Amino acid sequence: MAEIVIVRDKEAAGELVADHIAALVRENPEAVLGLATGSTPLPVYEALRPRLQGVDVSRVRGFALDEYVGIDPAHPESYRSVITREVVEPLGLNPELVRTPDGTPEGIEYHGEEYEAAILDAGGIDLQILGIGTDGHIGFNEPGSSFASQTRVKTLTEQTRRDNARFFDSIDDVPMHCITQGLGTILRARHLVLLAFGEGKAAAVAGAVEGPLTASLPGSAIQLHARATVVVDEAAASQLQRAAYYRYAFDNKPDWQGI
Ligand code: F6R
Repeated sequence: MAEIVIVRDKEAAGELVADHIAALVRENPEAVLGLATGSTPLPVYEALRPRLQGVDVSRVRGFALDEYVGIDPAHPESYRSVITREVVEPLGLNPELVRTPDGTPEGIEYHGEEYEAAILDAGGIDLQILGIGTDGHIGFNEPGSSFASQTRVKTLTEQTRRDNARFFDSIDDVPMHCITQGLGTILRARHLVLLAFGEGKAAAVAGAVEGPLTASLPGSAIQLHARATVVVDEAAASQLQRAAYYRYAFDNKPDWQGI
């Protein structure tokens, strides 16, 4: 099963995960990072900034999880813009080495395969940061997504469009389609780090970690991964049955193991 780390708040989560990523980049300056967008990973990106000062990041590569289809890449809420604003610029990464799936409608049927090939070409993703949707999606793999799925176009659920309306003027402006790494793509990353904060994520987290393996809750796919770390605050952990054990295991974990 995944390792569950229950932390005080999102800042503590950001620091824990950023420590680990900074160590990874120092050890391997060509590390390949899988980047999530949305609100959840922001504390990680913020905490990474001071930790990467003076570290050579010029060869770090990155792959975003997903992108809206048909959104102008220059739109402030395109995931290209978000990744540029929240990750590439503040961390000083080379923009040419950080990709997002291509959501341009022309040729969209080939963009998934091209993205898969680019990830393969980079040697695969070393560490994949994940958030989770209130409906249990990871990436934009909505309920029903195959565990073997690859990067492809998906239709967003109404729930996800409602959740993401906060980034747009209204729900009508939230694109209907996205292009997302598949669950199969995500499962090939060498280390998964899923973060979740707040009461609204508690049911999805409990389902993903302790529920049955089911395409109805795509986040449960992490149970298939040999190295998955789930970092949650108290509120997001509030529906976990075995919380006491997770705390006990983490408190007694040898330091050398890290996360
Ligand atoms: C983002 C992504 C999504 C989000 C999820 C949670 O690239 O793939 O799975 O991680 O929708 O969103 P937030 O973090 O905004 O609650």
